[in-house]
Amino acid sequence: MNAINKLWMLVLLLAVPMLASASDAGLHLDKAPGDLGDKASLQRGAKFFTSNCLACHSAAYMRYNRLADIGMSLEEIKAMLPEGAKPGSTMSAAMDAASAKMAFGVAPPDLSVVSRVRGTDWLYTYFRSFYVDSKSASGVNNLVFPSVAMPNVLGYMQGDQELDHATGKLKLVTPGAMSTAEFDATIADLVNYLDFMGEPAKLVRYKLGYIVIGFLFLLLILSYALKKEFWKDVH
Ligand code: HEC
Repeated sequence: MNAINKLWMLVLLLAVPMLASASDAGLHLDKAPGDLGDKASLQRGAKFFTSNCLACHSAAYMRYNRLADIGMSLEEIKAMLPEGAKPGSTMSAAMDAASAKMAFGVAPPDLSVVSRVRGTDWLYTYFRSFYVDSKSASGVNNLVFPSVAMPNVLGYMQGDQELDHATGKLKLVTPGAMSTAEFDATIADLVNYLDFMGEPAKLVRYKLGYIVIGFLFLLLILSYALKKEFWKDVH
């Protein structure tokens, strides 16, 4: 390989990451305001999820009784169980995968770890980015998931949005049952819950982090005292 070729290789290698980031540039994601320490938000998210999403989606790695980790009592958990489920049951979809595939063309994916696959900012933006599109089969489309097969099940809460083709932004044309602020807060809770569900151990890990730092700090003080003791006689 001569020097010129090597130079070209280098230029190409440098260009690859630039190309990759350029393809994402068109997609703006809103920052999810989630807080895994906020138990009340996680509980609101869990209730919203179990009552609005399990018709079509499952969360096969999540058991109802794990909701105790976010501070729900057994009575509260029992109150949200579907027919025939026990507190130890996993969250299954009401609709079986085959009929869902018939109805929507694709089976609604399991949502247990969707927060790890998509990220919370993507999810927070996705649920708020449905818009009316007469060209799509379901009548709606989505800015971050073009030609999505999921119907806009939250449309009656958010209202109808339309895409302004000039700016590429969405605007609310018909108000829904909630104000924009209420809807955004509801979605923030939902995404917070999806984040918890994707990695329930995160809560434990955060707590562990503080304990470890506290321990190291204590060790610092002790070793400093020890150092002083050792060097006392030398000086
Ligand atoms: C009426 C059935 C239905 C309901 C109810 C529903 N979804 Fe969906 N959802 C779908 C279908 C179908 C898809 C697959 C879309 C595709 O691949 O084009 C989907 C896709 C998704 C995706 C994208 C998954 C991915 O990474 O590709 C997410 C996230 C999602 N749904 C979350 C939810 C949440 C949260 C709720 C409750 C608020 C919900 N869905 C309610 C049918 C539904």
